[in-house]
Amino acid sequence: MYVPREVESVLFTREQLGARIEQIGDELTAEYADKNPLFLCILRGAAIFFSDLVRAVKCPLEIDFIRAHSYSGTKSTGNVEVDLMNIGDISGRDVVIVEDICDSGRSLAEINRALSECNPRSLKTVCLLDKPSRRAVEFDPDLTGFVIDDLFVVGFGFDCDGKFRNLPYVGVYSGN
Ligand code: IMP
Ligand code: MG
Repeated sequence: MYVPREVESVLFTREQLGARIEQIGDELTAEYADKNPLFLCILRGAAIFFSDLVRAVKCPLEIDFIRAHSYSGTKSTGNVEVDLMNIGDISGRDVVIVEDICDSGRSLAEINRALSECNPRSLKTVCLLDKPSRRAVEFDPDLTGFVIDDLFVVGFGFDCDGKFRNLPYVGVYSGN
């Protein structure tokens, strides 16, 4: 297995991630079976999780993509920019926001605020990982893959300055 020297340990293997994503997919299938939901991927971190998750949901749905940005290296800048790109009219839609991680909670709080203004019928947030000990604003995802300690992770979409997103597992970043 390819483990770059900056990765000190593997936190979740591809198999563990896959099994949990199937479970979340089953929960979402039961909930959205007759709703034709819109799954929104928060670029870029959630892209890998998103592509596995939508394939684990076994009912009709649509997909689209928005952007949020706040991190520089391993530090959150606290300044969240949300770009709704060209998602079009989501009023009356059941929207499922798919994000990589809830850390300070600022990104998801801001994304939820921006999307609420577009009058969806419902908004639900799914995160692969959650670091509740780092919360700076009040926000909790509706569905979470795994709760983790205050660690900086890379791989499976997670990056450090743009690197390591392609690793097929979630690893702990050592900083060296
Ligand atoms: P929040 O706004 O502080 O909740 O930060 C959310 C964003 O920070 C996520 O979408 C990630 O892009 C990034 N982030 C937070 N923790 C990590 C991490 O451990 N590794 C990589 N990116 C992270
Ligand atoms: Mg992100």
